[in-house]
Amino acid sequence: MIGAGSSGIAVLKVLAEQGIPVDCFEKSDRVGGNWVFANKTGMSSAYRSLHTNTSRERMSYSDFPMPRSYPDFSHHRQMAQYFADYAERFGLARRITFETGVEHAARGEDGVWTVELSTGETRRYDALLVANGHHWDPRWPEPPYPGQFDGEQMHSHHFVDAAGFRDRNVLVVGLGNSALDIAVETSFVARRTWISARRGEHVIPKYVFGRPVDQIAVSPLTPLVPFPIRHAFFRAIYRLAVGRVEDYGLPKPDHRLLESHPSLSADFLGRIAQGEVTWKPAIASLEGDRVAFADGSVEPIDVIVWGTGYKVTFPFFDENFISAPDNELLLYRRVFKPGMDNLFFIGLLQPLGPTMPLAEAQGRWIAAYLRGQYHPPPIAEMEAEMRRDRERVRRRYVASKRHTMEVDFDDYLYALGRELKAGAGRARDAGFRLPVPARAQAVAAGSRPGS
Ligand SMILES: Cc1cc2nc3c(=O)[nH]c(=O)nc-3n(C[C@H](O)[C@H](O)[C@H](O)COP(=O)(O)OP(=O)(O)OC[C@H]3O[C@@H](n4cnc5c(N)ncnc54)[C@H](O)[C@@H]3O)c2cc1C
Ligand SMILES: NC(=O)c1ccc[n+]([C@@H]2O[C@H](COP(=O)([O-])OP(=O)(O)OC[C@H]3O[C@@H](n4cnc5c(N)ncnc54)[C@H](OP(=O)(O)O)[C@@H]3O)[C@@H](O)[C@H]2O)c1
Repeated sequence: MIGAGSSGIAVLKVLAEQGIPVDCFEKSDRVGGNWVFANKTGMSSAYRSLHTNTSRERMSYSDFPMPRSYPDFSHHRQMAQYFADYAERFGLARRITFETGVEHAARGEDGVWTVELSTGETRRYDALLVANGHHWDPRWPEPPYPGQFDGEQMHSHHFVDAAGFRDRNVLVVGLGNSALDIAVETSFVARRTWISARRGEHVIPKYVFGRPVDQIAVSPLTPLVPFPIRHAFFRAIYRLAVGRVEDYGLPKPDHRLLESHPSLSADFLGRIAQGEVTWKPAIASLEGDRVAFADGSVEPIDVIVWGTGYKVTFPFFDENFISAPDNELLLYRRVFKPGMDNLFFIGLLQPLGPTMPLAEAQGRWIAAYLRGQYHPPPIAEMEAEMRRDRERVRRRYVASKRHTMEVDFDDYLYALGRELKAGAGRARDAGFRLPVPARAQAVAAGSRPGS
């Protein structure tokens, strides 16, 4: 397995519990990935003030609740501790080789994976699990904006805190969660903070009617309610609790609520309403120490923070083997690559809700498969389902590179549960045949699925 972030450790635990031999390689000296502020890998995008935007009760792994002493929306320090405690509780560290990166992974004609490590060592494995995260490789504006900017620029990935922003004119670009948090933070110290985006957003508060917003009207039965009804219900709640973003000083979004990845903030609308953050439409051009906007206005800017999102990349795969141009990588229910029976992706999704319980469910699914207790549908069926999924996402969401892997939390879990049952039936009919033959067993560290 590649990566011991919050996704990797969840799957590692399931596989280990089910007796599936697994080695995990992790670049860092600890688990937790993105949630380890200033992680020595340089891959964490956490800033000093980062708190979760998904609530404690929804984020916890199924058999390891987050401490009751944690707030509803925890600080990154608490999250990193939670993941370290999880690894400790389930004895995961002995399965992880820390400070060891996977430099290259290639699948031979015999199906065996050859994995080259940063130590110079090469290992062979029967199956490969990829949990390398997808929020660490900054996406700068594509194409770049015309003109030249002479001030300071950084991507939100490199933002640490607002200390260096005192008395400066700051422009934050984007209206995703990074941009909102950073604009709020700089607005307390900067001379001025502007925020520019190509479209408006329905900014969602973290609490509605005194409850964490991700706990409003959700239950295991949620997926049985048709989405248009849920959508209408949530829109009505938003209208009652928040009103319209136009009333705070943002432009009317070109889409309805939940037709873009949710941008949540407890403070952003207030800072806009108080004039501490000023809205600007899209950038027209960069003009030395000034920036011109689509409405013809021009502002003096000292520093630009690009909150323009992340690229999905797999530096250890040859690009013509597997890559995700424009963040697009079609997978069967975001895990299986049809035709490749021993490769699995974990946490490679963008949930409306937290990632951790979904990664854990993916682990249970992969474990059942590796033990011969789940058989996937025929390739053509998986591919048809993948195309349907992509169409569903395209129909619902605004066209943007950040909307290629959206899943609804409860619906995803429900669909996985159903698929697991259907696949168990197929496995039974096929006599529980192991799908991944143990070809790499000659190698000491190679895994023998199902043994
Ligand atoms: C600022 C920010 C805030 C977020 N807030 C939330 C939130 O509130 N709730 C939520 O659910 N999600 C949130 N997310 C999404 C976030 O991606 C997930 O919370 C979580 O970090 C995903 O875990 P992961 O294990 O998939 O990826 P990561 O946390 O990125 O972990 C990947 C791990 O793989 C390792 N790795 C990568 N490449 C290699 C390699 N080649 N060899 C060996 N090891 C490797 C890395 O070192 C890392 O430890 C946020 C994301 C960002 C950027
Ligand atoms: N816990 C938290 O509070 C927290 C904080 C930060 C991030 N996160 C999570 O981290 C992940 C990444 O979030 P993110 O905000 O960094 O990225 P993101 O969700 O991909 O948002 C990127 C933003 O930049 C805009 N954008 C992209 N390219 C642009 C361009 N060339 N010009 C102008 N605008 C452009 C996008 O708008 P378009 O719609 O126009 O493309 C979008 O508003 C998400 O899952 C998010 O939920 C969570």
